Amino acid sequence: MSLRSAAWFAGDDLPGFLHRASLRAQGLSNAALSGRPIIGISNSWSELVSCNAHFRGMADAVRRGVLQAGGLPLEFPTISLGENLMKPTAMLYRNLMAIDVEESLRSYPLDAVVLLAGCDKTVPAQLMGATSANLPAVMVTGGPATPAIFHGRRLGVGTDLWRYTDQLRAGKLSRQEFAELEQAAMPGVGHCTEMGTASTMAALSEALGVALPGSAAIPAGDARRYAAAESAGLLAVSLARSGPRPRQILTRAAFLNAATVLAAIGGSTNAVVHLLALARRSGVPFSLDDLDEVSARTPLLVNVRPAGEHLFEDFFHAGGVPALLRELRPLLDTDALTVTGRPLGEGLSTTAPPDRRVIAALDEPFGGTGGLAVLRGNLAPDGAVIKASAASARLRRHRGRAVVFDSVTDLAERIDDPSLPVTADSVLVLRNAGPVGGPGMPEWGQIPIPARLLRDGVTDMVRISDARMSGTAYGTAVLHVAPESAIGGPLAAVRDGDLIELDVPGRRLHLHVDDREIQRRIADHPPHVPAAPSGWARLYRTHVLQADQGCDFDFHQPDTGPDTTALPDGLLSGWHGGW
Ligand code: FES
Repeated sequence: MSLRSAAWFAGDDLPGFLHRASLRAQGLSNAALSGRPIIGISNSWSELVSCNAHFRGMADAVRRGVLQAGGLPLEFPTISLGENLMKPTAMLYRNLMAIDVEESLRSYPLDAVVLLAGCDKTVPAQLMGATSANLPAVMVTGGPATPAIFHGRRLGVGTDLWRYTDQLRAGKLSRQEFAELEQAAMPGVGHCTEMGTASTMAALSEALGVALPGSAAIPAGDARRYAAAESAGLLAVSLARSGPRPRQILTRAAFLNAATVLAAIGGSTNAVVHLLALARRSGVPFSLDDLDEVSARTPLLVNVRPAGEHLFEDFFHAGGVPALLRELRPLLDTDALTVTGRPLGEGLSTTAPPDRRVIAALDEPFGGTGGLAVLRGNLAPDGAVIKASAASARLRRHRGRAVVFDSVTDLAERIDDPSLPVTADSVLVLRNAGPVGGPGMPEWGQIPIPARLLRDGVTDMVRISDARMSGTAYGTAVLHVAPESAIGGPLAAVRDGDLIELDVPGRRLHLHVDDREIQRRIADHPPHVPAAPSGWARLYRTHVLQADQGCDFDFHQPDTGPDTTALPDGLLSGWHGGW
Protein backbone atom coordinates (compact mmCIF):
# COMPACT_ATOMS: atom_id res chain seq x y z
CA MET A 1 0.00 0.00 0.00
CA SER A 2 1.43 3.39 -0.90
CA LEU A 3 2.11 5.70 1.97
CA ARG A 4 -0.01 8.79 2.55
CA SER A 5 3.14 10.83 3.16
CA ALA A 6 4.30 10.09 -0.38
CA ALA A 7 1.80 12.74 -1.53
CA TRP A 8 4.06 15.29 0.17
CA PHE A 9 7.51 13.84 -0.38
CA ALA A 10 7.62 11.63 -3.46
CA GLY A 11 6.98 14.26 -6.09
CA ASP A 12 9.76 15.37 -8.40
CA ASP A 13 8.31 18.86 -8.46
CA LEU A 14 8.44 22.10 -6.54
CA PRO A 15 6.08 21.05 -3.70
CA GLY A 16 8.11 17.84 -3.23
CA PHE A 17 11.28 19.93 -3.18
CA LEU A 18 9.78 22.27 -0.60
CA HIS A 19 8.43 19.54 1.66
CA ARG A 20 11.69 17.58 1.67
CA ALA A 21 13.76 20.72 2.15
CA SER A 22 11.69 21.77 5.16
CA LEU A 23 12.67 18.52 6.96
CA ARG A 24 16.26 18.76 5.78
CA ALA A 25 16.33 22.05 7.66
CA GLN A 26 16.32 19.91 10.83
CA GLY A 27 19.28 17.89 9.60
CA LEU A 28 17.41 14.95 8.12
CA SER A 29 19.36 13.07 5.46
CA ASN A 30 18.34 11.53 2.15
CA ALA A 31 18.28 8.18 3.93
CA ALA A 32 15.79 9.46 6.49
CA LEU A 33 13.56 10.77 3.74
CA SER A 34 13.73 7.79 1.44
CA GLY A 35 10.10 6.74 1.54
CA ARG A 36 9.97 5.59 5.15
CA PRO A 37 6.58 5.59 6.93
CA ILE A 38 6.30 8.83 8.84
CA ILE A 39 5.02 8.24 12.36
CA GLY A 40 3.70 11.18 14.32
CA ILE A 41 4.18 11.25 18.07
CA SER A 42 1.25 13.29 19.34
CA ASN A 43 2.69 14.47 22.63
CA SER A 44 0.63 16.10 25.38
CA TRP A 45 3.76 16.71 27.48
CA SER A 46 3.55 19.88 29.55
CA GLU A 47 5.16 21.34 32.64
CA LEU A 48 1.67 22.53 33.52
CA VAL A 49 0.44 18.92 33.72
CA SER A 50 2.51 16.89 36.16
CA CYS A 51 0.59 13.76 35.17
CA ASN A 52 2.16 14.05 31.69
CA ALA A 53 5.51 15.59 32.66
CA HIS A 54 7.50 12.42 31.86
CA PHE A 55 6.31 12.24 28.26
CA ARG A 56 9.55 13.53 26.74
CA GLY A 57 11.21 10.32 27.88
CA MET A 58 8.27 8.28 26.63
CA ALA A 59 8.44 10.03 23.26
CA ASP A 60 12.14 9.05 23.06
CA ALA A 61 11.11 5.44 23.69
CA VAL A 62 8.49 5.63 20.93
CA ARG A 63 11.15 7.11 18.64
CA ARG A 64 13.42 4.12 19.30
CA GLY A 65 10.68 1.74 18.27
CA VAL A 66 9.84 3.66 15.10
CA LEU A 67 13.49 3.77 14.03
CA GLN A 68 13.96 0.04 14.73
CA ALA A 69 11.08 -0.72 12.39
CA GLY A 70 12.40 1.54 9.64
CA GLY A 71 10.04 4.47 10.10
CA LEU A 72 10.73 8.16 10.55
CA PRO A 73 9.37 9.55 13.86
CA LEU A 74 8.22 13.17 13.93
CA GLU A 75 7.00 14.44 17.28
CA PHE A 76 4.56 17.31 17.60
CA PRO A 77 2.94 19.00 20.61
CA THR A 78 -0.72 19.17 21.44
CA ILE A 79 -2.48 21.37 23.92
CA SER A 80 -2.30 19.59 27.26
CA LEU A 81 -5.13 19.40 29.78
CA GLY A 82 -4.35 19.17 33.47
CA GLU A 83 -7.07 18.54 36.00
CA ASN A 84 -5.46 20.44 38.82
CA LEU A 85 -4.35 23.71 37.27
CA MET A 86 -6.82 24.30 34.41
CA LYS A 87 -9.83 26.41 35.35
CA PRO A 88 -12.77 26.35 35.37
CA THR A 89 -12.30 22.72 34.27
CA ALA A 90 -10.15 20.76 31.83
CA MET A 91 -13.38 19.35 30.40
CA LEU A 92 -14.08 22.77 28.86
CA TYR A 93 -11.07 22.11 26.64
CA ARG A 94 -11.41 18.38 25.84
CA ASN A 95 -13.07 19.15 22.53
CA LEU A 96 -10.45 21.81 21.74
CA MET A 97 -7.69 19.24 22.21
CA ALA A 98 -9.63 16.74 20.09
CA ILE A 99 -9.82 19.32 17.30
CA ASP A 100 -6.11 20.10 17.74
CA VAL A 101 -5.20 16.42 17.38
CA GLU A 102 -7.63 15.73 14.53
CA GLU A 103 -6.50 18.63 12.39
CA SER A 104 -2.80 18.00 13.07
CA LEU A 105 -3.24 14.41 11.87
CA ARG A 106 -5.27 15.51 8.88
CA SER A 107 -3.06 18.34 7.72
CA TYR A 108 0.47 16.97 8.17
CA PRO A 109 2.24 14.24 6.19
CA LEU A 110 1.73 11.44 8.69
CA ASP A 111 1.12 7.75 7.95
CA ALA A 112 0.29 6.69 11.51
CA VAL A 113 0.48 8.18 14.97
CA VAL A 114 1.37 7.23 18.53
CA LEU A 115 -0.82 9.11 20.99
CA LEU A 116 0.76 10.02 24.34
CA ALA A 117 -1.83 10.86 26.98
CA GLY A 118 -2.25 10.51 30.71
CA CYS A 119 -4.20 13.09 32.68
CA ASP A 120 -7.97 12.55 32.54
CA LYS A 121 -9.15 14.46 29.48
CA THR A 122 -6.02 13.97 27.41
CA VAL A 123 -6.87 10.30 26.72
CA PRO A 124 -10.38 10.81 25.29
CA ALA A 125 -9.29 13.97 23.47
CA GLN A 126 -6.46 12.14 21.69
CA LEU A 127 -8.76 9.24 20.84
CA MET A 128 -11.57 11.50 19.62
CA GLY A 129 -9.18 13.41 17.36
CA ALA A 130 -7.55 10.28 15.96
CA THR A 131 -10.95 8.66 15.39
CA SER A 132 -12.30 11.61 13.44
CA ALA A 133 -9.11 11.79 11.37
CA ASN A 134 -9.17 7.97 11.13
CA LEU A 135 -5.40 7.80 10.76
CA PRO A 136 -3.90 4.54 12.10
CA ALA A 137 -3.18 5.21 15.77
CA VAL A 138 -2.00 3.49 18.92
CA MET A 139 -2.54 4.92 22.38
CA VAL A 140 0.18 4.94 25.04
CA THR A 141 -0.96 6.19 28.43
CA GLY A 142 1.37 7.59 31.06
CA GLY A 143 0.82 5.22 33.97
CA PRO A 144 -0.03 5.89 37.61
CA ALA A 145 2.32 7.97 39.75
CA THR A 146 4.21 6.60 42.73
CA PRO A 147 1.67 6.67 45.57
CA ALA A 148 2.09 9.09 48.44
CA ILE A 149 2.46 7.72 51.95
CA PHE A 150 0.83 9.61 54.81
CA HIS A 151 0.35 8.42 58.38
CA GLY A 152 1.75 5.09 57.20
CA ARG A 153 -0.89 4.61 54.49
CA ARG A 154 -0.47 4.67 50.70
CA LEU A 155 -2.80 7.34 49.30
CA GLY A 156 -5.11 7.50 46.38
CA VAL A 157 -4.50 11.06 45.23
CA GLY A 158 -8.12 12.19 45.16
CA THR A 159 -10.00 9.56 47.14
CA ASP A 160 -7.95 10.06 50.28
CA LEU A 161 -7.64 13.81 49.83
CA TRP A 162 -11.45 14.14 49.88
CA ARG A 163 -11.55 12.11 53.11
CA TYR A 164 -8.84 14.15 54.80
CA THR A 165 -10.53 17.38 53.66
CA ASP A 166 -13.76 16.25 55.30
CA GLN A 167 -11.80 15.38 58.44
CA LEU A 168 -10.29 18.88 58.44
CA ARG A 169 -13.73 20.48 58.05
CA ALA A 170 -15.07 18.29 60.84
CA GLY A 171 -12.19 19.35 63.12
CA LYS A 172 -10.75 15.82 63.20
CA LEU A 173 -7.50 16.70 61.36
CA SER A 174 -5.30 19.63 62.36
CA ARG A 175 -4.04 22.37 60.07
CA GLN A 176 -0.51 21.14 60.79
CA GLU A 177 -1.40 17.61 59.67
CA PHE A 178 -3.10 18.97 56.56
CA ALA A 179 0.08 20.92 55.72
CA GLU A 180 2.09 17.71 56.13
CA LEU A 181 -0.35 15.99 53.78
CA GLU A 182 0.32 18.67 51.16
CA GLN A 183 4.05 17.97 51.36
CA ALA A 184 3.47 14.25 50.87
CA ALA A 185 0.51 14.18 48.50
CA MET A 186 2.21 14.03 45.10
CA PRO A 187 5.67 12.50 45.28
CA GLY A 188 6.20 12.19 41.54
CA VAL A 189 4.92 12.40 37.97
CA GLY A 190 2.25 10.19 36.49
CA HIS A 191 -1.51 10.13 36.75
CA CYS A 192 -3.72 9.69 39.83
CA THR A 193 -3.02 6.49 41.66
CA GLU A 194 -6.49 5.05 42.21
CA MET A 195 -9.30 4.16 39.79
CA GLY A 196 -9.96 7.78 38.89
CA THR A 197 -10.70 8.94 35.39
CA ALA A 198 -7.11 8.63 34.13
CA SER A 199 -6.76 5.02 35.30
CA THR A 200 -10.23 4.25 34.00
CA MET A 201 -9.55 5.71 30.56
CA ALA A 202 -6.22 3.89 30.39
CA ALA A 203 -7.94 0.57 31.15
CA LEU A 204 -10.73 1.35 28.67
CA SER A 205 -8.18 2.16 25.96
CA GLU A 206 -6.89 -1.37 26.31
CA ALA A 207 -10.42 -2.81 26.42
CA LEU A 208 -11.40 -0.84 23.31
CA GLY A 209 -8.40 -2.34 21.56
CA VAL A 210 -6.54 0.90 20.83
CA ALA A 211 -3.67 0.40 23.31
CA LEU A 212 -1.17 -2.44 23.54
CA PRO A 213 -2.28 -5.42 25.65
CA GLY A 214 -0.98 -5.14 29.19
CA SER A 215 0.14 -1.53 28.88
CA ALA A 216 -2.61 0.38 30.72
CA ALA A 217 -1.59 -0.02 34.34
CA ILE A 218 2.22 -0.11 34.21
CA PRO A 219 3.40 2.48 36.78
CA ALA A 220 4.78 5.73 35.38
CA GLY A 221 8.21 5.09 36.86
CA ASP A 222 8.47 1.46 35.77
CA ALA A 223 10.92 0.73 32.95
CA ARG A 224 8.31 -1.52 31.37
CA ARG A 225 6.24 1.57 30.51
CA TYR A 226 9.08 2.82 28.34
CA ALA A 227 9.41 -0.61 26.75
CA ALA A 228 5.68 -0.50 25.99
CA ALA A 229 6.12 2.93 24.39
CA GLU A 230 8.95 1.50 22.29
CA SER A 231 6.70 -1.39 21.22
CA ALA A 232 4.00 1.10 20.24
CA GLY A 233 6.53 2.85 17.99
CA LEU A 234 7.37 -0.47 16.34
CA LEU A 235 3.70 -1.29 15.88
CA ALA A 236 2.90 2.12 14.41
CA VAL A 237 5.21 1.46 11.46
CA SER A 238 3.25 -1.64 10.48
CA LEU A 239 -0.02 0.24 11.10
CA ALA A 240 1.13 2.85 8.61
CA ARG A 241 1.36 0.23 5.89
CA SER A 242 -1.67 -1.94 6.59
CA GLY A 243 -3.78 -0.56 9.45
CA PRO A 244 -6.20 -1.19 11.05
CA ARG A 245 -7.56 2.33 11.37
CA PRO A 246 -9.38 3.57 14.48
CA ARG A 247 -12.88 3.18 13.07
CA GLN A 248 -12.18 -0.44 12.15
CA ILE A 249 -11.35 -1.06 15.82
CA LEU A 250 -13.95 1.16 17.48
CA THR A 251 -17.02 -0.92 16.69
CA ARG A 252 -20.11 -1.45 18.81
CA ALA A 253 -18.52 -4.65 20.12
CA ALA A 254 -15.51 -2.64 21.28
CA PHE A 255 -17.71 -0.16 23.14
CA LEU A 256 -19.72 -2.92 24.80
CA ASN A 257 -16.43 -4.55 25.88
CA ALA A 258 -15.27 -1.20 27.27
CA ALA A 259 -18.56 -0.77 29.13
CA THR A 260 -18.08 -4.24 30.66
CA VAL A 261 -14.59 -3.35 31.84
CA LEU A 262 -15.85 0.01 33.15
CA ALA A 263 -18.37 -1.80 35.32
CA ALA A 264 -15.90 -4.47 36.46
CA ILE A 265 -13.25 -1.96 37.54
CA GLY A 266 -15.70 0.34 39.35
CA GLY A 267 -14.49 3.05 36.99
CA SER A 268 -15.10 6.76 36.82
CA THR A 269 -18.46 8.20 35.80
CA ASN A 270 -16.51 10.59 33.58
CA ALA A 271 -15.81 7.64 31.31
CA VAL A 272 -19.52 7.53 30.50
CA VAL A 273 -19.31 10.96 28.87
CA HIS A 274 -16.09 10.11 27.05
CA LEU A 275 -17.31 6.76 25.72
CA LEU A 276 -20.51 8.36 24.43
CA ALA A 277 -18.51 11.07 22.64
CA LEU A 278 -16.05 8.59 21.17
CA ALA A 279 -18.82 6.28 19.98
CA ARG A 280 -20.56 9.20 18.34
CA ARG A 281 -17.38 10.10 16.49
CA SER A 282 -16.95 6.48 15.48
CA GLY A 283 -20.45 6.41 14.02
CA VAL A 284 -21.39 3.60 16.41
CA PRO A 285 -24.83 3.35 18.04
CA PHE A 286 -24.06 3.32 21.75
CA SER A 287 -26.13 4.99 24.45
CA LEU A 288 -26.65 5.48 28.17
CA ASP A 289 -29.07 2.55 28.06
CA ASP A 290 -26.28 0.29 26.74
CA LEU A 291 -24.10 1.33 29.68
CA ASP A 292 -26.89 0.61 32.14
CA GLU A 293 -27.62 -2.79 30.62
CA VAL A 294 -23.97 -3.83 30.61
CA SER A 295 -23.49 -2.62 34.16
CA ALA A 296 -26.59 -4.50 35.29
CA ARG A 297 -25.01 -7.83 34.26
CA THR A 298 -21.39 -7.10 35.21
CA PRO A 299 -20.16 -7.44 38.79
CA LEU A 300 -17.34 -5.49 40.38
CA LEU A 301 -14.17 -7.56 40.01
CA VAL A 302 -11.43 -5.06 40.76
CA ASN A 303 -10.59 -4.10 44.33
CA VAL A 304 -9.14 -0.62 43.75
CA ARG A 305 -10.12 2.67 45.42
CA PRO A 306 -12.56 4.36 45.52
CA ALA A 307 -14.75 1.24 45.11
CA GLY A 308 -12.13 -0.98 46.81
CA GLU A 309 -8.96 -0.80 48.87
CA HIS A 310 -5.94 -1.12 46.57
CA LEU A 311 -4.30 1.22 44.05
CA PHE A 312 -3.94 1.07 40.26
CA GLU A 313 -0.30 -0.09 40.45
CA ASP A 314 -1.53 -3.08 42.52
CA PHE A 315 -3.91 -3.84 39.65
CA PHE A 316 -0.88 -3.95 37.34
CA HIS A 317 1.02 -6.30 39.61
CA ALA A 318 -2.10 -8.47 39.94
CA GLY A 319 -2.15 -9.02 36.18
CA GLY A 320 -3.65 -5.79 34.83
CA VAL A 321 -6.23 -5.56 32.07
CA PRO A 322 -5.34 -8.91 30.39
CA ALA A 323 -5.95 -10.75 33.67
CA LEU A 324 -9.25 -8.92 34.10
CA LEU A 325 -10.30 -9.70 30.51
CA ARG A 326 -9.50 -13.34 31.20
CA GLU A 327 -12.04 -13.35 34.02
CA LEU A 328 -14.60 -11.42 32.01
CA ARG A 329 -14.44 -13.63 28.90
CA PRO A 330 -18.05 -14.89 29.18
CA LEU A 331 -19.25 -11.27 29.07
CA LEU A 332 -17.00 -10.02 26.26
CA ASP A 333 -16.91 -10.17 22.51
CA THR A 334 -13.42 -11.61 22.32
CA ASP A 335 -13.42 -11.46 18.51
CA ALA A 336 -13.27 -7.66 18.60
CA LEU A 337 -10.33 -6.42 16.55
CA THR A 338 -7.47 -4.63 18.30
CA VAL A 339 -4.72 -2.33 17.12
CA THR A 340 -2.37 -5.31 17.00
CA GLY A 341 -4.48 -6.70 14.16
CA ARG A 342 -5.46 -9.60 16.40
CA PRO A 343 -8.68 -10.22 18.35
CA LEU A 344 -9.08 -9.03 21.94
CA GLY A 345 -9.38 -12.57 23.22
CA GLU A 346 -6.17 -13.87 21.68
CA GLY A 347 -3.82 -15.19 24.32
CA LEU A 348 -6.21 -14.67 27.23
CA SER A 349 -6.48 -18.41 27.92
CA THR A 350 -2.74 -18.54 28.60
CA THR A 351 -2.69 -15.38 30.71
CA ALA A 352 -1.58 -16.14 34.26
CA PRO A 353 -4.35 -16.25 36.88
CA PRO A 354 -4.59 -12.92 38.67
CA ASP A 355 -3.80 -12.04 42.26
CA ARG A 356 -7.21 -12.63 43.81
CA ARG A 357 -6.72 -9.91 46.40
CA VAL A 358 -7.08 -7.37 43.60
CA ILE A 359 -8.85 -9.09 40.68
CA ALA A 360 -11.71 -11.39 41.61
CA ALA A 361 -13.18 -14.33 39.73
CA LEU A 362 -16.43 -13.74 37.89
CA ASP A 363 -18.25 -16.20 40.15
CA GLU A 364 -16.75 -14.73 43.34
CA PRO A 365 -16.83 -10.96 42.70
CA PHE A 366 -15.88 -8.21 45.11
CA GLY A 367 -19.16 -6.41 44.54
CA GLY A 368 -22.54 -6.82 42.96
CA THR A 369 -23.77 -5.87 39.51
CA GLY A 370 -25.15 -2.46 38.64
CA GLY A 371 -22.23 -0.44 39.99
CA LEU A 372 -23.04 2.24 37.46
CA ALA A 373 -26.70 3.07 36.98
CA VAL A 374 -28.62 5.33 34.62
CA LEU A 375 -31.58 7.06 36.19
CA ARG A 376 -34.54 8.64 34.46
CA GLY A 377 -37.64 10.47 35.59
CA ASN A 378 -39.22 13.88 35.55
CA LEU A 379 -35.99 15.35 36.99
CA ALA A 380 -33.81 13.78 34.28
CA PRO A 381 -35.84 12.99 31.16
CA ASP A 382 -32.67 12.37 29.11
CA GLY A 383 -30.89 10.54 31.89
CA ALA A 384 -28.60 10.94 34.85
CA VAL A 385 -25.79 8.74 36.14
CA ILE A 386 -24.92 7.44 39.60
CA LYS A 387 -21.95 5.39 40.68
CA ALA A 388 -23.98 3.05 42.83
CA SER A 389 -20.87 1.16 43.93
CA ALA A 390 -19.60 4.34 45.62
CA ALA A 391 -22.99 5.22 47.17
CA SER A 392 -24.21 4.32 50.65
CA ALA A 393 -26.48 1.27 50.55
CA ARG A 394 -29.02 2.95 52.84
CA LEU A 395 -29.38 5.92 50.46
CA ARG A 396 -29.94 4.01 47.23
CA ARG A 397 -33.66 4.28 47.95
CA HIS A 398 -34.31 7.62 49.56
CA ARG A 399 -36.88 10.41 49.81
CA GLY A 400 -35.81 13.78 51.07
CA ARG A 401 -36.48 17.51 50.93
CA ALA A 402 -34.44 19.59 48.53
CA VAL A 403 -31.88 22.18 49.60
CA VAL A 404 -31.09 24.04 46.40
CA PHE A 405 -27.95 25.91 45.37
CA ASP A 406 -28.17 28.03 42.23
CA SER A 407 -24.48 27.98 41.45
CA VAL A 408 -21.17 26.78 42.82
CA THR A 409 -20.64 30.27 44.26
CA ASP A 410 -23.96 30.08 46.08
CA LEU A 411 -22.91 26.63 47.33
CA ALA A 412 -19.57 27.87 48.63
CA GLU A 413 -21.22 30.79 50.43
CA ARG A 414 -23.98 28.87 52.18
CA ILE A 415 -23.04 25.19 52.60
CA ASP A 416 -21.44 25.72 56.02
CA ASP A 417 -23.87 28.41 57.16
CA PRO A 418 -25.13 27.22 60.58
CA SER A 419 -28.60 28.52 59.72
CA LEU A 420 -28.90 26.42 56.53
CA PRO A 421 -32.09 24.35 56.99
CA VAL A 422 -30.48 21.01 56.24
CA THR A 423 -30.58 17.58 57.86
CA ALA A 424 -28.89 14.29 57.07
CA ASP A 425 -32.03 13.31 55.12
CA SER A 426 -32.03 16.42 52.92
CA VAL A 427 -31.22 16.17 49.22
CA LEU A 428 -28.57 18.67 48.17
CA VAL A 429 -29.22 20.07 44.68
CA LEU A 430 -26.68 22.03 42.64
CA ARG A 431 -27.71 23.52 39.32
CA ASN A 432 -26.13 25.62 36.56
CA ALA A 433 -23.13 23.30 36.58
CA GLY A 434 -23.68 21.44 33.31
CA PRO A 435 -21.96 21.63 29.91
CA VAL A 436 -23.46 25.06 29.13
CA GLY A 437 -24.03 26.34 32.66
CA GLY A 438 -20.62 25.46 34.16
CA PRO A 439 -19.44 25.93 31.48
CA GLY A 440 -17.73 22.63 30.72
CA MET A 441 -19.60 20.56 33.30
CA PRO A 442 -17.04 20.89 36.10
CA GLU A 443 -16.46 18.21 38.73
CA TRP A 444 -18.65 19.90 41.32
CA GLY A 445 -21.05 16.97 41.73
CA GLN A 446 -19.57 15.67 44.98
CA ILE A 447 -21.32 18.49 46.84
CA PRO A 448 -19.66 18.86 50.26
CA ILE A 449 -21.58 17.74 53.28
CA PRO A 450 -22.34 20.69 55.56
CA ALA A 451 -19.67 21.00 58.27
CA ARG A 452 -22.31 20.90 61.00
CA LEU A 453 -23.48 17.48 59.79
CA LEU A 454 -19.90 16.25 59.33
CA ARG A 455 -19.24 17.06 62.99
CA ASP A 456 -22.34 15.01 63.85
CA GLY A 457 -20.80 12.05 62.04
CA VAL A 458 -22.76 12.24 58.77
CA THR A 459 -20.56 10.84 56.00
CA ASP A 460 -22.94 10.68 53.04
CA MET A 461 -26.06 12.38 51.71
CA VAL A 462 -28.01 12.29 48.46
CA ARG A 463 -26.66 14.93 46.12
CA ILE A 464 -28.00 15.81 42.66
CA SER A 465 -26.48 18.01 39.97
CA ASP A 466 -25.93 18.48 36.27
CA ALA A 467 -22.18 18.50 37.00
CA ARG A 468 -19.65 15.67 36.81
CA MET A 469 -17.73 14.17 39.72
CA SER A 470 -14.08 13.24 40.01
CA GLY A 471 -13.49 9.58 39.33
CA THR A 472 -11.65 9.48 42.63
CA ALA A 473 -14.72 10.61 44.58
CA TYR A 474 -17.38 8.63 46.40
CA GLY A 475 -20.82 9.19 47.87
CA THR A 476 -24.45 9.09 46.78
CA ALA A 477 -24.11 11.64 43.99
CA VAL A 478 -26.52 11.76 41.06
CA LEU A 479 -24.62 13.35 38.19
CA HIS A 480 -24.90 14.42 34.54
CA VAL A 481 -28.60 15.32 34.82
CA ALA A 482 -29.85 15.96 31.30
CA PRO A 483 -31.07 18.25 30.00
CA GLU A 484 -29.16 20.59 32.27
CA SER A 485 -30.78 23.41 34.21
CA ALA A 486 -29.08 26.25 32.30
CA ILE A 487 -30.98 25.34 29.14
CA GLY A 488 -34.31 24.79 30.89
CA GLY A 489 -33.97 21.25 32.21
CA PRO A 490 -36.27 20.31 35.13
CA LEU A 491 -33.51 20.79 37.69
CA ALA A 492 -34.20 24.51 37.17
CA ALA A 493 -37.67 24.02 38.65
CA VAL A 494 -36.65 22.53 42.01
CA ARG A 495 -37.31 24.69 45.07
CA ASP A 496 -36.19 24.36 48.66
CA GLY A 497 -38.42 21.90 50.47
CA ASP A 498 -39.61 19.99 47.38
CA LEU A 499 -39.71 16.23 47.90
CA ILE A 500 -37.25 14.28 45.74
CA GLU A 501 -37.22 10.52 45.37
CA LEU A 502 -34.13 8.54 44.41
CA ASP A 503 -34.63 4.87 43.56
CA VAL A 504 -31.42 3.39 42.17
CA PRO A 505 -32.73 -0.20 41.89
CA GLY A 506 -35.78 1.19 40.07
CA ARG A 507 -33.58 3.52 37.99
CA ARG A 508 -35.80 6.44 38.95
CA LEU A 509 -35.25 10.09 39.88
CA HIS A 510 -38.48 11.88 40.62
CA LEU A 511 -39.49 15.35 41.75
CA HIS A 512 -42.79 15.12 43.61
CA VAL A 513 -44.20 18.22 41.98
CA ASP A 514 -46.97 18.27 39.41
CA ASP A 515 -45.65 18.34 35.84
CA ARG A 516 -47.65 21.45 34.97
CA GLU A 517 -46.20 23.21 38.00
CA ILE A 518 -42.71 22.18 36.88
CA GLN A 519 -43.37 23.69 33.45
CA ARG A 520 -44.82 26.83 35.01
CA ARG A 521 -41.76 27.31 37.23
CA ILE A 522 -39.40 26.86 34.29
CA ALA A 523 -41.43 29.35 32.23
CA ASP A 524 -41.28 31.83 35.11
CA HIS A 525 -37.52 31.52 35.25
CA PRO A 526 -36.24 31.33 31.68
CA PRO A 527 -32.95 29.51 31.16
CA HIS A 528 -29.98 31.47 32.33
CA VAL A 529 -27.13 30.86 29.93
CA PRO A 530 -24.13 32.75 31.25
CA ALA A 531 -22.74 35.41 28.93
CA ALA A 532 -19.89 34.37 26.67
CA PRO A 533 -19.34 37.28 24.32
CA SER A 534 -16.58 35.87 22.19
CA GLY A 535 -13.92 33.30 21.64
CA TRP A 536 -13.77 29.70 22.80
CA ALA A 537 -16.40 30.06 25.54
CA ARG A 538 -18.91 31.35 22.99
CA LEU A 539 -18.16 28.57 20.51
CA TYR A 540 -18.38 26.01 23.30
CA ARG A 541 -21.68 27.21 24.73
CA THR A 542 -23.23 27.53 21.31
CA HIS A 543 -22.37 24.05 20.10
CA VAL A 544 -21.82 21.71 23.06
CA LEU A 545 -24.21 18.76 23.31
CA GLN A 546 -25.69 17.49 26.55
CA ALA A 547 -24.10 14.84 28.77
CA ASP A 548 -26.21 12.01 27.36
CA GLN A 549 -24.55 12.67 24.00
CA GLY A 550 -21.02 12.94 25.39
CA CYS A 551 -20.67 16.75 25.47
CA ASP A 552 -19.12 16.76 22.01
CA PHE A 553 -19.92 19.54 19.56
CA ASP A 554 -23.01 19.36 17.38
CA PHE A 555 -20.89 20.07 14.29
CA HIS A 556 -18.78 16.97 14.82
CA GLN A 557 -21.02 14.68 12.85
CA PRO A 558 -20.13 11.01 12.89
CA ASP A 559 -18.04 10.57 9.78
CA THR A 560 -18.13 7.03 8.50
CA GLY A 561 -16.37 7.70 5.20
CA PRO A 562 -13.48 5.42 4.28
CA ASP A 563 -10.59 7.85 4.65
CA THR A 564 -10.92 11.40 5.84
CA THR A 565 -7.16 11.80 5.68
CA ALA A 566 -7.10 11.36 1.90
CA LEU A 567 -6.00 14.53 0.18
CA PRO A 568 -8.18 16.14 -2.48
CA ASP A 569 -6.66 15.88 -5.95
CA GLY A 570 -4.36 18.74 -6.74
CA LEU A 571 -4.05 19.98 -3.15
CA LEU A 572 -0.32 19.44 -3.14
CA SER A 573 0.42 20.68 -6.62
CA GLY A 574 1.19 24.28 -7.46
CA TRP A 575 2.04 27.05 -5.08
CA HIS A 576 0.48 25.84 -1.85
CA GLY A 577 1.61 25.53 1.69
CA GLY A 578 2.78 28.88 2.92
CA TRP A 579 4.26 30.45 -0.18
FE1 FES B 1 -4.07 14.24 36.25
FE2 FES B 1 -5.57 13.03 38.25
S1 FES B 1 -4.85 15.11 38.10
S2 FES B 1 -4.79 12.21 36.41
